[in-house]
Amino acid sequence: MSRKPIIAGNWKMNLLQSDAKALYEGISSFVSNYSAVQLPSVVIAPVFTCLNQVKEIPCDCGCNGTKLAVAAQNCHWESSGAYTGEISVEMAKDAGCSYIIIGHSERRQYFSETDEMINKKAKAILAGGLIPIICCGESLEQRESGITDSWIASQIRAALDGISSEDVAKSVIAYEPIWAIGTGKSCDATEANRVIKMIRGVVADVAGQSAADSIRILYGGSVKPSTIEEQMAQSDIDGALIGGASLKADSFNEIIEKTMKVAV
Ligand code: PGA
Repeated sequence: MSRKPIIAGNWKMNLLQSDAKALYEGISSFVSNYSAVQLPSVVIAPVFTCLNQVKEIPCDCGCNGTKLAVAAQNCHWESSGAYTGEISVEMAKDAGCSYIIIGHSERRQYFSETDEMINKKAKAILAGGLIPIICCGESLEQRESGITDSWIASQIRAALDGISSEDVAKSVIAYEPIWAIGTGKSCDATEANRVIKMIRGVVADVAGQSAADSIRILYGGSVKPSTIEEQMAQSDIDGALIGGASLKADSFNEIIEKTMKVAV
């Protein structure tokens, strides 16, 4: 089963419009050298106020693919109304997004997002024709107490609850151990692959083997140009969600380039 890899940059709460524009230009000029067939699915997730500085780049070779796609970092599950500070799926789509990251550990930890909220968001995103990037991951304490697999399995079951197999197949999951995010210490590639295989097994259980074979499951947590080849060489890692190293065009482009060599 061949799944097209995804290299996604999560810019988090960084960059003003002029910096976002410069970073976008650095990435877009790099991906323009290739066709979408050669590239992984490249996705960038700026802050909402910078979505006007970036845009999706369709491929011009007739393959119907996209060289660069845009993601929102969050959304609300309602379509409009009295939800101060929130944006809806339709608004993200209107601003040019085709993916939305949900359930990032920073949202769960600092903004008290629950599995139930993440499930509602996933359903709203899929109903709106966009692709959710659903994050999951364990804390260091959870890992040390040996509950990593059961914790992540329960996050995935909750996030996918009530979603059709067809929609699950289109979705993206990002396994991001919390202790590896922003620490410079990425999870050992074979261990990340083991957990991702376990996640694929949970997806097979809730949505069937065909959805499990199609869904793309990324690794995130201190991914760098020096780690990506080993990560992409694993059987079940379908790409990366990248924070720090996505904020410089040079390092992000190097990750894309290395992914093309190993996995596309
Ligand atoms: P990092 O962040 O690459 O800076 O560790 C990854 C993420 O939080 O998505």
